[in-house]
Amino acid sequence: MISQDEFRLIRDYVEAHCGIHLSDDKAYLIETRLTTMMFEQGCKTFGELYDKAVSDKTHVLRDKIIEAITTNETFWFRDLHPFGILNEVLFQQYAAEIQAGKRSKIRIWCCACSTGQEPYSIAMTFLEFIRHRPAVTPGHLEILATDISSTVLFLGKLGRYDTLSMSRGLPEKYRDRYFDKNDRVWSIRDEVKKMVTFQKLNLQESFNHLGSQDIVFCRNILIYFSLEFKQDLLKRIARLLRPGGFLFLGASESIIMYTQEYEMYRHAMGLYYQVR
Ligand SMILES: C[S@@+](CC[C@H](N)C(=O)[O-])C[C@H]1O[C@@H](n2cnc3c(N)ncnc32)[C@H](O)[C@@H]1O
Repeated sequence: MISQDEFRLIRDYVEAHCGIHLSDDKAYLIETRLTTMMFEQGCKTFGELYDKAVSDKTHVLRDKIIEAITTNETFWFRDLHPFGILNEVLFQQYAAEIQAGKRSKIRIWCCACSTGQEPYSIAMTFLEFIRHRPAVTPGHLEILATDISSTVLFLGKLGRYDTLSMSRGLPEKYRDRYFDKNDRVWSIRDEVKKMVTFQKLNLQESFNHLGSQDIVFCRNILIYFSLEFKQDLLKRIARLLRPGGFLFLGASESIIMYTQEYEMYRHAMGLYYQVR
């Protein structure tokens, strides 16, 4: 059983290294997610596990703790609306600019991409969008997918999914068009894969080196952060976006309370935000 002191130590350690804020009633979460690791590490208490992580200069144990605490839940075309808005509004606008010779690239950043379903859903939305627009090519879209977890990035880069993951949100049409099946594993085709670049990035760190973006997907991650970190992150994303660039959040997330830097728009039942 985790003591209150051990809970506070590990909670603060997790927040300091990945921004995830655990409220006082989340001791059970640390206990359930770290107990096996505690024994594997030869520790008898959570306090010992904490001491071991702090003194590990390689940061391997720290990263394992963060991976165990983070939630990697994701699925294809999650919430549907963002992909409808890309298809019906934003890609239309950008394609017109490309055709008019006013734009050469569309740059999209998925800042907490998990195992790749979100960036690959964007790529497939674009491939469908350009099917009857020969002037726009897959090379016009660059998708950068980042996450703090090396494990999810490895799986995203691999682009192989089991039957259960494939059954979560992926329309059959897309499955048949963009995946190859081998035994019980589905592999995403190279034409989709090569549109996405995966890279490790902790959102607490500077991301100015990524260069300016047209659209940022920051979905189902803000809910885990403190109010201060949410505000800081949204400000930094606003600075990274090109003038008039767009932000998408998860269905249960809203930024109205946290920042004045974005204008909210509604399309069909979905919301998106434009930097002011
Ligand atoms: C719930 S998943 C959301 C995945 C996807 N955006 C979606 O909406 O389906 C949250 C992801 O955020 C990542 N994450 C947590 N803290 C992070 C941080 N400080 N920097 C970057 N990624 C982080 C986790 O590793 C996890 O893969």
